[in-house]
Order: sequence, then structure tokens, then C-alpha cells
Amino acid sequence: MSNKKIAIMGAMPEEIAPILEKLGTYKTTQYANNKYYEASYKGVDLVIAYSKIGKVFSTLTATTMIEHFGAEILLFSGVAGAISSTLKVGDLIVATQLSQHDLDITAFGHPFGYVPEGAVFIEADKKMIELSKEVATSMGKSVKEGIIATGDQFVANEERKNWIGSTFDADALEMEGASVAVVCDALDVPFFILRAISDAADMDASFSFDEFLETSAIESAEFVMKMVDKIIE
Ligand code: ADE
Repeated sequence: MSNKKIAIMGAMPEEIAPILEKLGTYKTTQYANNKYYEASYKGVDLVIAYSKIGKVFSTLTATTMIEHFGAEILLFSGVAGAISSTLKVGDLIVATQLSQHDLDITAFGHPFGYVPEGAVFIEADKKMIELSKEVATSMGKSVKEGIIATGDQFVANEERKNWIGSTFDADALEMEGASVAVVCDALDVPFFILRAISDAADMDASFSFDEFLETSAIESAEFVMKMVDKIIE
């Protein structure tokens, strides 16, 4: 049982719409060029927002949810491109670790994804991952655990996807997870990053993304709300 304030974050309107719909009523606050939605759910305070796409906007939103709105736990819900061939459209992946695939100062002898005083991988909260296994069982769903690679690129290229997969041992890729992870890690806020697959980051990715964004976002949002129930319980 926790009554800590929970942030639920997405990158795009479609990723948080199912959550706002479920809550029904909420208070909207305009802050830092974005809208933040606050609600009380089963006696616990929630703050919900979509950041806009990419690492910079997601960094701003995650930081704002924690520092301005007082969130003490952060859950991210959204879609991702599959790297692992075992992941199909609609499948769920929970991030165990996250890395920035486009962070590159290899010219100075550092590995991809690394800058001095940083780390190639940020670890997600283990307790929350354990909780997600209970949620998956209760929903009768199988959820893959794996490394998620993040970058400011929509990847629609087999070669780039395979490079990200082999360089970071990543199972999926997206554009916000690692930046949110850096913020939460630095501010000591337990975080959970869940993604439902919308495409395979290949030459058909943009078409697949457009077709499956909404349904995959719903898959992810439903699971994240069950996570909220589990955290509160
Ligand atoms: N999010 C969903 N699909 C993606 C892709 N192919 N590249 C980057 N982010 C994504």
C-alpha cells in the first residue's frame, strides 16, 4: 500500500488519452508550455501529462512532474519499435535498463551511450518490475523484460535497428525512455517504463506506427493503470 503521488507520463496525446478517459474528471494546469492533469484515484494523487516527442521534451516533463507537481513515483506508458524478433505489434515490454543510442563521444575513446560522470545504462526500479509480473499474471498477459534504447530518431531502417540491437543488447527502441530514466535516477524517484510495440523499426515502420499507435497505446495504458492499482493496493 502506497499513497505516494504518482506521475503517469506519455510522449504523445494518444498515449495518455486512455488514462484520462478512465479517470473521467481531472484538473488541468498549464505549466512550462505543457498541460498537466491532476486527479485523485482511489485516494491517491496522480499527475498525468504527455511530454511531446523526444529526449528534451520528456526530460522537461519528467522533471516538472517531480519537482513542480511533487510526484514520488513515475510510470511511463507508450509505444516502441521492436528490435527483438520475438516482439510483435501489440506486445508489451518492460524496461529493465535504458540507454541513449544516439549519445556519441566515441571520438574520445568512450563507448556509445556514455559521457563522463554518466552511465551507458540506467537501471529501472526492480520492485516495480516485480509488481509488473504480478500484474501480468493477473491479466493473463505475457510481458517481456528487456533493454530499451532511446534516441532522437524515428528508426525506420533495418541496418540502424540492428546496430542499436547489437551495440546496446536492446530489445526495443523509442524516443523518451532513457531521458526519463536519467531524471528519475538523479532525483531518486522509482520509475517504470512500459511500451507496447507499434512497429518493427524497419522500412515499413512509419506505416505500421500510424496504423497501430492508438491500439498499442491502449494496451500499454491499460497495463499501466493496473500497475497503479497494484501500487495503491
Ligand atoms: N516509437 C515507436 N516506434 C518507433 C520507432 N520506429 N523509432 C523510434 N521511436 C519509436
